[in-house]
Amino acid sequence: MKNINIFYNSKKGKLEGEKIKYSTTSLLQSSYIYQQKDNLNNLEKIIYEVEFHDNDVTEGDSGGLFFGISSIYPGKVGKEFHMTKGHKHKKNDTGEYYWGLRGIGKLLMVFENNTYEIQDVFEGSLHYIPGKTAHRLINVSKNKLSVGACWQSESKHDYDCYFPIRVIENGDGEIEYVNCST
Ligand code: PA5
Ligand code: NI
Repeated sequence: MKNINIFYNSKKGKLEGEKIKYSTTSLLQSSYIYQQKDNLNNLEKIIYEVEFHDNDVTEGDSGGLFFGISSIYPGKVGKEFHMTKGHKHKKNDTGEYYWGLRGIGKLLMVFENNTYEIQDVFEGSLHYIPGKTAHRLINVSKNKLSVGACWQSESKHDYDCYFPIRVIENGDGEIEYVNCST
């Protein structure tokens, strides 16, 4: 098997080489996750994107791995910082690793028993997301946030999950966690 001809260009903050696929999520596609749903401007704006290594493994098959880099652009919707939709894995006993590549963020994990944990994400940070755990990444900085991620090909994504905590910027410009019922 040949080496993979891909590398992470840390200066540019992007994957370069062969067999890279991209997926983007706009404000329109993710607006439903924010508490403020009115006065949304520029719905075409890309909030986050994922660069994948296209390794010819089929999603849903067992035994393979996927690798991607997720990047969230800085900004807020209302008071809430930009974030991923968040999901758990359909094959619910499969876990995942995230690791910080650039920027500053938070990883919100909601465990099976509905307790949660918020971890600081920064360049060099490492995060293990156990199976049966909903996970969402939030960019709390003024720069792009990027993490690497590796998960099993059989995992698949389940977006039907609930995140009881929101990360907002309060009136004093500080990061604050607030409870959320939706
Ligand atoms: O597998 C992962 O956890 C990541 O690759 C995410 O899918 C990525 O960050 C996008 O987030 P979401 O799938 O919640 O929209
Ligand atoms: Ni995941």
